[in-house]
Amino acid sequence: MSVNKEVKKITTHTLLKMKESGEKISMITAYDFSFAKIFDDAGIDIILVGDSASNVMAGHETTLPITLEQMIYHASSVVRGCHRSLIVVDLPFGSYQGNSKEALNSTIRIMKETGAHAIKLEGGEEVLESVKRILSSGVPVMGHLGLTPQSIYKFGTYTVRAKEEEEAEKLKRDAMLLQEAGCFAIVLEKIPASLAKEVTEKLTIPTIGIGAGADCDGQVLVMHDMLGINTEFKPRFLRTYLNLHKDVTNAVHKYIDDIKSKNFPNENEQY
Ligand code: KIV
Repeated sequence: MSVNKEVKKITTHTLLKMKESGEKISMITAYDFSFAKIFDDAGIDIILVGDSASNVMAGHETTLPITLEQMIYHASSVVRGCHRSLIVVDLPFGSYQGNSKEALNSTIRIMKETGAHAIKLEGGEEVLESVKRILSSGVPVMGHLGLTPQSIYKFGTYTVRAKEEEEAEKLKRDAMLLQEAGCFAIVLEKIPASLAKEVTEKLTIPTIGIGAGADCDGQVLVMHDMLGINTEFKPRFLRTYLNLHKDVTNAVHKYIDDIKSKNFPNENEQY
């Protein structure tokens, strides 16, 4: 396994150097202290406190309901588990779309109350003013283009984006605008691999793909999906590395059996 343990702390500068040297960037979501600690100790480069917490932690159908307070709770828990990874926090729906002042205020709350290192927000030209205002305060910004789940009711489906030329052209323009504004990286979600390759080659900042093919500078997956906790979600782009749903179910069955059969606790497991 090639984790560069020489790097004591991943910064936005480290990520740029990784793009330049061709070293792929690893990113995963986390929402709590314990998993974040495992991922950080394992050597993951970026931990995203994603607003997917709304789905996988709170059980909502979309990412829209999660609040700034809830994101701050998740992010501060993650930060306490990490010493090496760069921690990026999603600005939740409704905390930045109003105007750039609101976007900056939400960002300041996240940075002050969590100790995270950067924020991510969805969109291109529409949110450019907010991106610039946040960047001018000294906070690194990660962009997010392609399938942007906070706009699910506009799209109507979670299908692949930017297959048509008009949308692909807009995505390319947006990526350049975000780079020129000063974003340090851009997530490309569920777009054709050929488009992601083109964008990645054009940009000097890293792209992090999810369902965007192998040519992005890095990859991100939602932890519940890649660990097989969430078994109903099976998009083509997902690779599962564990079947935690099965393993946890088996363990809990065994635990129940042991209690019912009076096999737990035994003599050595009591005072
Ligand atoms: O919220 C999230 O988990 C995300 C990733 C899918 C990139 O934005």
